[in-house]
Amino acid sequence: MPEKFISIQEAINKGKGKVSVRGWVYRERGSNQYKFLVLRDSTNIIQCVLPHEKFKKQWKDIDKLLIESSVEIHGTVKKEPRAPTNYDILVDKISIIQTAEPFPIAKDQSTEFLADNRHLWLRSRKMAAILKIRSTIFGAIHEYFRNNDFYEYQSPIFQSVQAEGGSTLFEVPYFGQKGVFLAQTWQLYAEPAIFALEKIYTVAPSFRAEKSKTSRHLTEYWHAEMEAAWLQFDQLNDHGEALLKHIVKKVLEKNKSELVILERDVKKLEPALKKKFPRMTYDDVLKLLKKKFKMDLAWGKDLRTIEEDRLSSLYDTPIIVTHYPKAVKAFYMKEDPKNTKVVLGADFIAPEGYGEIIGASEREPDPEKIKKNLTAQGENPKEYEFYLDTRKYGSVPHAGFGMGIERVIAWICGLDNIKDAIPFPRTMLRWKP
Ligand code: 4AD
Ligand code: MG
Repeated sequence: MPEKFISIQEAINKGKGKVSVRGWVYRERGSNQYKFLVLRDSTNIIQCVLPHEKFKKQWKDIDKLLIESSVEIHGTVKKEPRAPTNYDILVDKISIIQTAEPFPIAKDQSTEFLADNRHLWLRSRKMAAILKIRSTIFGAIHEYFRNNDFYEYQSPIFQSVQAEGGSTLFEVPYFGQKGVFLAQTWQLYAEPAIFALEKIYTVAPSFRAEKSKTSRHLTEYWHAEMEAAWLQFDQLNDHGEALLKHIVKKVLEKNKSELVILERDVKKLEPALKKKFPRMTYDDVLKLLKKKFKMDLAWGKDLRTIEEDRLSSLYDTPIIVTHYPKAVKAFYMKEDPKNTKVVLGADFIAPEGYGEIIGASEREPDPEKIKKNLTAQGENPKEYEFYLDTRKYGSVPHAGFGMGIERVIAWICGLDNIKDAIPFPRTMLRWKP
C-alpha cells in the first residue's frame, strides 16, 4: 500500500493526530537542538519541528537542508500559536527526496533577474496565487459558454490572412512560402463555422507583434473568443457583460485567500458583479471627457490609453463603449444602418486603468463593403475569398467578441504589469526562458 499523504491545508484542518505531508522547504532555521523547517506545498505552509535528540543519525543531512529541498514528513500535527499558520508538526520521520542547491532567488531582486529566473520564480507565493486565480478564470470561461450552449471550436494558428491590422502580424517561415502568419484572432476561421454550429467559442493563444513596451501588451496572449449566428449587437454586449460577471463571481467564491496574498481589495471587484455596466457611445465619451477633464479629442481619432484611463476613473465597473468611427475599427465590423460613419462595435474598458478587455462587433454582411474596406487598408481581397464566401451562401446576421484573458487577470488580481498574468510572458524584449 502506498503511503497516504495529505495536503498541508488538510493537515491544518485536521489539527491533531498523525499526518504525512510532502513538499518543499520554504524557510529553515536551526540550532544544535532543533531544526525548524517551514514546509510548502500547493495548498499552504506549515512549520515542522525536528529535535536533534530524535534524529541523531540523520542530523548531518537534515542540517544541510536549504530552501526548496524536497522532503516527505510523518509526524503529529498540533495547534501552535507561535507558528506561521498556527499549527506545527512534531516530526517522527523525514525522507529527504532531494537536497537543493542554494536557491538563486533571495529578497529584493530586480524584475529583470526574476524574469531570467521565471522558471524558479513561479514557486513564489505571489505567482502561485496568480496562477490559481488564472486557473479559476479559464474554468469560468468554459463554464459560461458551455452553460449557454456554445460549442467549443478551434481555428488554425497558422493563417493566410490578417484581421487586426498588418502592423502587428507575425509572419513565419513556412517551407519557403510567403504570407503565412500566426493567428491574431480566430475570427475569420470562426465565422465559417457558425453556419454549422451557430454558437461557438474558443480559448486559444493569439499573437501580436506589438512594438509597444507597455504594461498591457504581450506578443503571445490567451484569447477567449465567441461567435454566434443571429446574435444582435445588444445581445452580444449582454454576453460580454455576463461572462465578466461570471468570472468575477467565481474568483470571489474560490480565491479569497489568493486575493489576500495579493493584497487585492475585493471591494473594488464587487461593483462589477452587482452593478450593470454603463453603455455609452463613442460620441458620449468625447463629450464626457471634454466636460470632466477638458480633453479635446478630435472626432474620428481612436481612444488612446490616456483617454481610456480617464474614462475608467469615472466608474467602478467595466464600461462598454459603442459606435466607434468606422475608420479606426476593423474591416469586418458592421456599419451602423442609422449612421454609416460608425460601426456596431464595442470595446469593454476595465476599471482602474486596466484598459480594453473585450473587443466586440456585429459583422458586416455586405461582401462589397468588406472588399472596399480591405482595399482601403492595402489588402488584396482575393486572399479573403474563403471569408467572403460566408456572405454568399445563406448569410445571416451574426456577431462575436474577443476577450484578452491576461488583461482580465491583471485587473482582477490588481497587477502592475500584464507580464505577471501569464507563466512565461513574451514581449518584444523577452522570449526566454
Ligand atoms: O480588440 P481585438 O484586436 O479584437 C479581435 O481580435 C477580434 N477579432 C475579436 C473577436 O471579435 N473575435 O482583441 C481582443 C482583445 C482586446 O480587447 C484585448 O483585451 C486583447 O484581446 N488583446 C491583447 N491582450 C494582451 N496583449 C495584446 N497585445 C493584446 N491585443 C489585444
Ligand atoms: Mg480592440
